[in-house]
Amino acid sequence: MSRDIYLDYNATAPLRPEALAAIAAALAETGNASSVHRFGRRARKRVEDAREAVAALAGATPAAVVFTSGGTEANNLALRGAGRERLLVSDIEHDSILAAAPAAERIAVGPDGVVRLDALAALLQRDRRAALVAVMLANNETGVVQPLGQIVELAHAHGALVHADAVQAAGKIGIDFAALGADLMALSAHKLGGPQGVGALLVREGLAVVSQLRGGGQERGLRAGTENVAGIAGFGAAASAARKGLPAYARLAALRRRLEQGIAALSPGTRFFGREVPRLANTSCFTMPGVASETQLIALDLAGIAVSAGSACSSGKVRPSHVLRAMGASEAEASSAIRVSLGWLTRAEEIERFIEAWGALYNRLGVEAA
Ligand SMILES: Cc1ncc(COP(=O)(O)O)c(C=O)c1O
Repeated sequence: MSRDIYLDYNATAPLRPEALAAIAAALAETGNASSVHRFGRRARKRVEDAREAVAALAGATPAAVVFTSGGTEANNLALRGAGRERLLVSDIEHDSILAAAPAAERIAVGPDGVVRLDALAALLQRDRRAALVAVMLANNETGVVQPLGQIVELAHAHGALVHADAVQAAGKIGIDFAALGADLMALSAHKLGGPQGVGALLVREGLAVVSQLRGGGQERGLRAGTENVAGIAGFGAAASAARKGLPAYARLAALRRRLEQGIAALSPGTRFFGREVPRLANTSCFTMPGVASETQLIALDLAGIAVSAGSACSSGKVRPSHVLRAMGASEAEASSAIRVSLGWLTRAEEIERFIEAWGALYNRLGVEAA
């Protein structure tokens, strides 16, 4: 029996051994990081070491890092805590942004999945109220990387703050929070080899943010509640490993190239989303014309291969992706797209097996539909 193949790193990545060791060591010890005695001080040290590691991965100062329960909480804290009257969010944001700001004005993207700077400029000029602009650094479904430097420049010129959801970008491309000039940035541990249920919001020095939880004064009063010491320690260890692993991540582009060449050779009608613009090296999103995403997921799962469709990673339900629709995909195209996301354990043979399995399904169901 050949081994199961995991090609769903953007949903969650395998726990790195360094993270597992750090979590186990923290769990084996008693200590509340707020206690002044030696037990507490040891827990505090784990938290502060992790803060340094996370800051180093993102090009931030340790003081900028506020630990949260994950990317979702970081996004909510940014949008609600920044206290801006007006929120502008791109059409391709994750649900944790869209649902946190249901009344937000939307910034359109082009067919390539890149936020339209002219659309953002028009929105900023139309209304002079204090705004916060939320645009993700890299999209979870297509991997498309946004021109965040230009977005920050434009937004700041109009007095607006910028929040960047970097949950998918962190650990896959180098990030320099300070150089980018964003005011806020969300990170999540489990996308880069840390545990699920821990993340961080980076807050630029001097920016006032209002805590969304009432309770103790942890995390500089921005996130009440006893710190998840083991989770945070795992996040820190994963962040250090991910930082070292950045060159290896860039090399995944060769495997992705092979994957996309293989698919295009089998199915000339396949659309690859965001292929013409800068993307994360590990992500590919493409259609099997005429074959529903669910059908593909089930058939691939039966072949021992795990991939994902649309925004399914959060709900377990497959619905046509709002990201692909925003890129101008028809309902039929969006409903026949899957996302393949590679990672540090992905091997060339696994890509060959994926192409084979996808090709077998296409020959069975897709050729007729095409
Ligand atoms: C772009 C993006 N933002 C935010 C999140 C939410 O992060 P978490 O799972 O840590 O709540 C995800 C996870 O799917 C994501 O892909």
